[in-house]
Amino acid sequence: MILSIESSCDDSAIAITEIATNKLLFHKKISQELEHSVYGGVVPELAARLHAEALPKILKECEPYFKDLRAVAVTSSPGLAVTLIEGVTMAKAISVALGIPLIGVNHLVGHIYSLFIEKETTFPLTVLLVSGGHTQVMEVNSLSEIKTVAKSMDDSFGESFDKVAKMMGLGYPGGPLIQELAKNGDRKKYDFTIPLQGRQSSLLAFSYSGLKNAVRLAVENSDEEGYADIAASFEHIATMHIIKKLKKYFETSSPKTFAIVGGASANLYLRSHIEELLKPYGAKLLLSELKYCSDNAAMIGRVAVEMYKREMFHSLDDLEIAPRSNI
Ligand code: KG4
Ligand code: ZN
Repeated sequence: MILSIESSCDDSAIAITEIATNKLLFHKKISQELEHSVYGGVVPELAARLHAEALPKILKECEPYFKDLRAVAVTSSPGLAVTLIEGVTMAKAISVALGIPLIGVNHLVGHIYSLFIEKETTFPLTVLLVSGGHTQVMEVNSLSEIKTVAKSMDDSFGESFDKVAKMMGLGYPGGPLIQELAKNGDRKKYDFTIPLQGRQSSLLAFSYSGLKNAVRLAVENSDEEGYADIAASFEHIATMHIIKKLKKYFETSSPKTFAIVGGASANLYLRSHIEELLKPYGAKLLLSELKYCSDNAAMIGRVAVEMYKREMFHSLDDLEIAPRSNI
């Protein structure tokens, strides 16, 4: 079995995965959403303190599995430096105490493998990762062949929802709150500009900072009754931006399988538009189970099983945290 730890942002999670079968034997996650909600976003120092409290408690529940562990895995990149270090330090301590190999896992690869929890892997596929930290399109052929073909130049899709929710004083995380509010709004009321169009329409990239600022102006000039229309129009444009860029991608590529992963892949408006987009291309849509869309340790464990089989181990010295991803 492999014990895996996730602490890259505001979720403390530990999983136990059986190597031979990919079976998830244990998974527990303690989210910090409530604690960060009053600040309208994640406060790194508070997140680190909460991980320091939560992780040992979850680890205690894993005691019955300790004797069967063959490796310990942990998210080491990307994420908040002060929170990554909590998981990595715990993993190193377990590795030393039990004399088992250490495996550092990239969180983005984890999100990709959230598609394969308790399943076999299937490649090739093109993956759209939409989370609080990333908006990224990747072509995945195997564990080691992952090519990023488009990513955000500034804010991410999920982050823009968080910021719009904060402007409206709704709380954190903003994604589900804006999605709910948008249900009762007019999607055409505000004519926000779709990012990276015009001269930049051929660019395969994403940008959300301009849209965020346009929404800020609208919020400042509106009373609370107008928020639903702003949320609906924002969600529409944020989604259309992705759809337009994916259309551009499909002009030159024809993946048979397309997947959406990450916390914001729970967005129903985005999901339904991507489903429509894929139809004429005959591409199959792959989604991870809703409970594994947001950050979790099961996806880290699933990657770790593959890394274990390839003996992709790290020593205490070469496993360092890297807040920015190299993917
Ligand atoms: O993958 P995740 O749990 O954490 C990161 O790795 O960032 O994603 C969390 C992000 C947050 O920004 C949250 O607002 C967003 O996913 N999110 C959504 C929805 N549900 C969660 N964004 C838009 N619509 C949603 N329904
Ligand atoms: Zn994530």
